[in-house]
Amino acid sequence: MVIAMKKTHTYTLPSAKEARKRFRGKTPYVDFAQRENLGNIGRGRTYLLSTYGCQGNEADSETIRGILEELGFESTDDERRADLILLNTCAVRESAENRVFGELGRLKQYKRTNPDLILGVAGCMPQDESVTDRILKRYPYVDLVFGTHNIHRLPELLEDAILNKERVIEVLSEEGRLVENLPKRRFHSAKAYVNIMFGCDEFCTYCIVPYTRGRERSRDPGYIIEEIRDLKEAGYQEVTLLGQNVNAYGRDFQTRKYSFADLLEDIAALKIPRLRFTTSHPNDFDDATIAAIARHENIMPHVHLPVQSGSDRILKRMNRKYTKESFLSLTTRLRRAVPSISLTTDIIVGFPGEREEDFQETLDLFEKAGFEGAFTFVFSPRRGTPAASYADETSKEEKKERLMRLNEYVNAAYLKGHERFEGEDVSVLVDGPSKQDEGMLSGYTPHHKLIHFPGDASLVGRIVTVRINEVRSFFMKGEHLEDT
Ligand code: SAH
Ligand code: SF4
Ligand code: F3S
Repeated sequence: MVIAMKKTHTYTLPSAKEARKRFRGKTPYVDFAQRENLGNIGRGRTYLLSTYGCQGNEADSETIRGILEELGFESTDDERRADLILLNTCAVRESAENRVFGELGRLKQYKRTNPDLILGVAGCMPQDESVTDRILKRYPYVDLVFGTHNIHRLPELLEDAILNKERVIEVLSEEGRLVENLPKRRFHSAKAYVNIMFGCDEFCTYCIVPYTRGRERSRDPGYIIEEIRDLKEAGYQEVTLLGQNVNAYGRDFQTRKYSFADLLEDIAALKIPRLRFTTSHPNDFDDATIAAIARHENIMPHVHLPVQSGSDRILKRMNRKYTKESFLSLTTRLRRAVPSISLTTDIIVGFPGEREEDFQETLDLFEKAGFEGAFTFVFSPRRGTPAASYADETSKEEKKERLMRLNEYVNAAYLKGHERFEGEDVSVLVDGPSKQDEGMLSGYTPHHKLIHFPGDASLVGRIVTVRINEVRSFFMKGEHLEDT
């Protein structure tokens, strides 16, 4: 929907109706490298970018940084001096949104001290028409709003905002295209996220992501493989393949048959030392994928497998398309193929209609699946999703109490997941200095366990061997063994 505003410019606003649509045609494709000179609107200017969302949002932030730096912007941590402050937002739960609105209120002060400051909101929140409407009406000092489908238009949007001093709002709800060869400025020098697909067609009844991210679109494997080959040449040790449902990769290809398992096989063959993927949907996780994980040493033995609930009745109302039994059969097959595998999950408590006996099913499944960690959430109604209008009789207190009970299981599971490595020598990809302990380094093991150990900064970015000598619920400690 395009609405003519005042004299000079137009706003492109999102539409919930458009965001719901799906078509099955070929995805339009744009090559960013074919663009004319991007200009240098950022020369002499600084930017500060904050990211609120999932790994997909972080990957988008790497692209936003890449474009900004090509335009000449330099990064700063000082919000008083930044010429551009951008918030890359998440809409998945109300709490994430509230943080962003709170932050906008706080950042308003810098518009007074720096009248040229451009304050922008990007990402999933603006894709919700009520959010963009709220910003339009109640946050007049926000200069720039764009969504998840038009990051590649950032150079033009910034020119309008900075040179023409316009308030720029461009949020597209169209099905989305695939844009290749976008510049990226990565957050890490040893591990990288690589999008393999965008969007989601699952429409779990609680979830806003299919509306904020649009239709499922898989990248051409050629581009993915090229990107990973380049990363490997640049010294990257670990790649995490990203998608809202990576197991659906390739489902949208029109003329070829090429699945997620095919992609895993082809990428594993590139010999990048560590390969991970997230997020998996239990319903689409096939045996070919299990076989690929078992076959390749460089596919890490950790799968994040969101289950959401253990009650068949609730799973049905969530539109998850599997049952407790079929889920447990999947975890059994995974363990049979990769006996040491570590499984983690996401769980929502207090979904509308969830009774105590449903919750008990969740606790039971949590134990039976042998999870070693979980992100747990209280159901948050999201505008425009079916579950937001389901009758819900459980009180907030009851839901919080269920969350606390579940978290006791989860905390015990983290500890148990660590205890099995006590005294072992494990390989660790060193991330950087420990956030928790000065003089310590931190990194992750193949099973995605966090470990702290004393060591020299020169180890950062390398895979080293560490002997574990202390285990706690949320981390382990160890000593670096000299490499032989
Ligand atoms: N595509 C991924 C991640 C989606 S968002 C997946 O399918 O697992 C990450 C997690 O947020 C979800 O797994 C779910 O547990 C949680 N979540 C999503 N919508 C939510 C809502 N409305 N309320 C509470 N938690 C939610
Ligand atoms: Fe949301 Fe479900 Fe898609 Fe995950 S699979 S992004 S929970 S709709
Ligand atoms: Fe949030 Fe958007 Fe990711 S809603 S979870 S940032 S896809």
